[in-house]
Amino acid sequence: MLRRLHHEQPESFAFTPANQAWAEAQISKYPEGRQASAVIPLLWRAQEQEGWVSRPAIEVIAQMLDMAQIRVLEVTSFYFMFQMQPVGSVAHIQICGTLSCMICGAEDLVAVCREKIADEPHVVSADGKFSWEEVECLGACTNAPMAQIGKDYYEDLTADRLREILDELAAGDVPVPGPQNGRYASEPLSGLTSLTEFDSGKTQYNASAALATDIGDTVKRIDGSEVPLLAPWRDKGANHNPAASKVKQAKAPAKPAAKAEKPAAKKDDAPTAEAGDVSEKKPRTLKAARKAGADDLKKISGVGPKLEQTLNELGFYHYDQIAKWSEAEIAWVDARLKFKGRIERDDWIGQATELAKGGKA
Ligand code: FES
Repeated sequence: MLRRLHHEQPESFAFTPANQAWAEAQISKYPEGRQASAVIPLLWRAQEQEGWVSRPAIEVIAQMLDMAQIRVLEVTSFYFMFQMQPVGSVAHIQICGTLSCMICGAEDLVAVCREKIADEPHVVSADGKFSWEEVECLGACTNAPMAQIGKDYYEDLTADRLREILDELAAGDVPVPGPQNGRYASEPLSGLTSLTEFDSGKTQYNASAALATDIGDTVKRIDGSEVPLLAPWRDKGANHNPAASKVKQAKAPAKPAAKAEKPAAKKDDAPTAEAGDVSEKKPRTLKAARKAGADDLKKISGVGPKLEQTLNELGFYHYDQIAKWSEAEIAWVDARLKFKGRIERDDWIGQATELAKGGKA
């Protein structure tokens, strides 16, 4: 299959603030001068955010990693896991068509996709919700035929079950991944013949399905609203000198990617520039929350449970405390957070001011 840039491209791309922080943390894993090693994680994150990898995304990632754009395009077009054209807004269905799955009914699954999604692969359905493609062996041959939907495997499929799964997804439900014929994992269909003691310790789902249901984001794309990924190595500094290898701030592409007449990306689309040097000043802190109890700081977009805990440990429990931070006080707090710059990027002060007034973030 010819893999090239799609003929229609968005005008710009920017990681969400949380995904930007995640990307910067990935880059910091590698020694100075080796930032290009983060190209696959960054492309993957861009795909999880947008559904596919667009030309503006390639340009932004090339700039972040100080790589030639053609090198990032080469990586994108080499690996089939990267979608280079728009996909369904709910899910992109990948049907395994290799030997075991083919013998066990993959063609019937492809027929369902042709019937319910689109006649051709890589074409978005009329309602915009789904797209599909046939892929090579996904390594779940003992549970053939199977499909990957989002991050998860749906195994032991039949045409009827795939039809139901598509209907459930279209209705906003997330079917439990894993075997769809009652099998627990990949044991024989006729039951265990060895290791039978394993049967008594079984949990409701096998480990993969259980993890997917625990996370609760089966086909949902990563948009940065999930709990931020921690990057504990950032504080250890073995190979990494943050001052020396400041992550390049990506700008929106100067030229529209698709059509010449389209306006250039708005200045506001570019991520906030790094703050200049501001001397730090410790804000007024509290030893504990006031009598009425602490505010729910997680209502501030960009603050998850872990950050709320950090803020509480620093002595901040209330919206009005955060709303009053001056520039120097922001610099003091920022210096004590794992991901720098998020206070301004996510406008904590504006959000906290609204919340303190009883409004919404
Ligand atoms: S042949 Fe389909 S998963 Fe291996």
